[in-house]
Amino acid sequence: MSKKHIFFYFITLSFILTGYSQKKYTTFKPGDLWLDNNGKHINAHGGGILIYNNTYYWFGEHKTTGSLGNKAMVGVGVYSSTDLYNWKNEGIALKAVNDTTSMLQKGSIIERPKVIYNKKTKKFVMWFHHELKDQGYAAALTGVATADNITGPYTYINSFRLHPGVLPLNFSKKEFDAVEMIKDRTDKNWKEKVVKGAYFKKDFEVGQMSRDMTLFVDDDETAYHITASENNQTLHISKLADDYLSVTNEYIRVFPGGRNEAPAIFKKDGKYYMFSSGLTGWKPNPGKSAVADHIMGEWTFLGNPCIGTEKEKATTFWSQSTYVIPVIGKKDAFIFMGDRWTPKNPIDGRYIWLPVEFENIKPILKWQSEWDLNYFNNN
Ligand code: DGJ
Repeated sequence: MSKKHIFFYFITLSFILTGYSQKKYTTFKPGDLWLDNNGKHINAHGGGILIYNNTYYWFGEHKTTGSLGNKAMVGVGVYSSTDLYNWKNEGIALKAVNDTTSMLQKGSIIERPKVIYNKKTKKFVMWFHHELKDQGYAAALTGVATADNITGPYTYINSFRLHPGVLPLNFSKKEFDAVEMIKDRTDKNWKEKVVKGAYFKKDFEVGQMSRDMTLFVDDDETAYHITASENNQTLHISKLADDYLSVTNEYIRVFPGGRNEAPAIFKKDGKYYMFSSGLTGWKPNPGKSAVADHIMGEWTFLGNPCIGTEKEKATTFWSQSTYVIPVIGKKDAFIFMGDRWTPKNPIDGRYIWLPVEFENIKPILKWQSEWDLNYFNNN
């Protein structure tokens, strides 16, 4: 190839790449590759959105290719968008570190990061599900990091179990004392004992487990941590401290023995709604929904929110909930954010975003192969 040919080859190539990266999306196509401003599939799994200065910031697990792909080899990624369709890669907000003495070392597990903004302290606060390197999912910790700028860098504070030695608001000392312990799942009346708090009692001194989690900030700026606890059998909802950096002693058990993962909360017309899933690892299962007049309960189960074929209902459109986005400037417009996991090549995981509709007070989801925000005006 002559110099002239090489020159034209590079000009053409950069022309194609520039055009590619500047592609403007005007719709959502759930399950498709979704390219960022650099032309790369968005890498923010198990994510959540923080709206700040009329901009959406999407935080999520930065996955990698290959067998280590679900481990935190990089950290938590962050993207920004003003229209929800087109996303700019803002880099790594919280970095997994090389220091093998740090709990945040590469190879630990960082899942479902969620970020909220504290108006009093003017700090951005990230919480995430954290598992320690080479310990599988045994540690069951929740982690906290904080930053002065929304895109980071976030400074890691700590990871811990929740509420050691503290009883929930809806669980009396009398009930606690009556709890019968269990050895394992073969135990007679296992389920009944779990509902009554056998796993709760096991962890009472060391602190309650915290796996799949989310955060919710109410209209009065009170924030809550919602998590799959008690060996994933029971959800715990905890009120955060005013600075959002720790939990208060105010917490409740929700759906004891209900086996919920992947909680996502939103508020409409003064009611609190929750999407969640069952427990099947990376495989999808039927979605669940619930409603409450107050986030601290009582919660009422509303069943599977999915409307569609048997397969769609059984798999939540082959996805698992992670967050619900309130759309800026549109009243009562909420987007279900789900993950279509691809554990063999985690970086390829897809995003299932669907409009949340309502049948009376029940939130429902219907499959859309392509849709845009006008859907909310027309439906
Ligand atoms: C399901 C959870 O929702 C995911 O976040 C992840 O923890 C997988 N289980 C791991 O199997």
